[in-house]
Amino acid sequence: MAGKRTFTMLKPDAVAAANTGAIIKLIEEAGFKIIALKKTMLTPERAGEFYAVHRERPFYKDLCKYMSSGSIVPMILEKENAVEDFRKLIGATDPAKAAPGTIRNLFAKSIEANAIHGSDSDENATIEGNFFFSNLERY
Ligand code: RTP
Ligand code: MG
Repeated sequence: MAGKRTFTMLKPDAVAAANTGAIIKLIEEAGFKIIALKKTMLTPERAGEFYAVHRERPFYKDLCKYMSSGSIVPMILEKENAVEDFRKLIGATDPAKAAPGTIRNLFAKSIEANAIHGSDSDENATIEGNFFFSNLERY
């Protein structure tokens, strides 16, 4: 059964461009409830840990540098069918391929600086939420 929670993170390009509020508005209007939220920064090492699944990919080193280049806004979100519905809301990785009206279509600058992350499975949503937030049973 599909889970009710997903994890997201506004990436450094979106935060630096002052799009935090506009993106959160779209997320809430799409029916997602914000369970946890903060503004923070990753070191290159922590970014590397977060995206460890990509460590053999050619873009990994650049990705770690980019993800630690400025503030990010990690969040845990709640909605029925959260993971799948949120991936639809953010659109394809490459903004040139992201459907009109999706967050990446509206706000992403490039395939790397693509505004926002969204978990790709219920299992990863839990792992990624725990990466940034503790004592989640209290939320
Ligand atoms: P995310 O994990 O951030 O939600 O993105 P995604 O599932 O849509 O894409 P994924 O394949 O997991 O890639 C993770 C992030 O790496 C950067 N990337 N750069 N230069 C490139 O070709 C390239 N490809 C991916 C993007 O920031 C992408 O979101
Ligand atoms: Mg991914």
